[in-house]
Amino acid sequence: MQSTSCDRVSSVVRRCLTAAAAVSGLALAPAWGGEPSVPYVPTPQDVVERMLQIAKVTPRDYVIDLGSGDGRIVITAARKFGARGFGVDLNPQRITESVENARKAGVSDKVAFYQRDLFETDLSEATVITMYLLPRVNLELRPRLLQLKPGTRLVSHDFSMEEWKPDTHVTVESKDKYGGAGGRSEIYFWIVPAQVSGTWQWQFPVAGKPHSYEVTLEQRFQEISGSVRLGGRTIRVQGARLRGDEIRFNFTAELDGAPVKHEFTGKVEADTIAGTVAVSGARVTAQIEWNARRTVRGAAAPVRADPYAVRFVETPK
Ligand SMILES: C[S@@+](CC[C@H](N)C(=O)[O-])C[C@H]1O[C@@H](n2cnc3c(N)ncnc32)[C@H](O)[C@@H]1O
Repeated sequence: MQSTSCDRVSSVVRRCLTAAAAVSGLALAPAWGGEPSVPYVPTPQDVVERMLQIAKVTPRDYVIDLGSGDGRIVITAARKFGARGFGVDLNPQRITESVENARKAGVSDKVAFYQRDLFETDLSEATVITMYLLPRVNLELRPRLLQLKPGTRLVSHDFSMEEWKPDTHVTVESKDKYGGAGGRSEIYFWIVPAQVSGTWQWQFPVAGKPHSYEVTLEQRFQEISGSVRLGGRTIRVQGARLRGDEIRFNFTAELDGAPVKHEFTGKVEADTIAGTVAVSGARVTAQIEWNARRTVRGAAAPVRADPYAVRFVETPK
């Protein structure tokens, strides 16, 4: 770890971390010729465990830590949660330490560490990605993270993704933060949402009569809203929720002169949704199979062309 006065006072350290990265070309120029986009500051062990709990890591998971330091996140995921995975770090010394730490923890068969730039790392195998980077690095990664398989879980120590609001945000106190000085850690958690914007169509019979539905959905990260066209009318959908590839929404529409509540739940796979709809009204109550097809693709989730154009404001603690 870079030994500076940053190590002491917790309220200053976040800014020191940023400042150190900002001058990395000078103060942190490494002997191996690369240039770290983030200085080495380890996540305290209790915070590592909390991050993995929040992500609900299990033996079925494959965890990738981007900028893996001494390997503690991936090693803990294997040792305490039974997961497999790998870490990447630009600094070869960190990789040597990680390999040795994995051996000592008895998890060398489950984890690997590579000296590699995180921006050139294939993330497709991950079910969970962990990060302790910097705000601008998170933003630079964000478009790639949004393209990952829906349902991939992301956990970031201390830094958010700006307008991509976390699904969960927890603040924890750790006496081990900043080399024992103690301090607060922010843990941000996201689930990569399926991309559902566009127009979706389906038909099904209600009370023996066929009906055609057309729903148009707008999407901003995991937040969705929309409207349905049915029988020549347009109605806003209610309670729209997207969590990974799981979608739900409801609306009440007139069918044959009587209001009928429709509650949809389904799984999105590319341009199809498969699930069920519960319909309930004065004359009908039924659970019906629901198969929707996207007929028009909407704009993809917002992707920032130039992350460095973003004004970055760090909130002092
Ligand atoms: C703040 S430390 C976090 C270490 C570890 N993930 C943890 O939470 O304990 C950031 C790490 O990222 C590494 N790093 C910085 N830029 C990188 C890059 N472009 N590719 C890979 N690793 C990088 C640094 O060498 C450092 O070890």
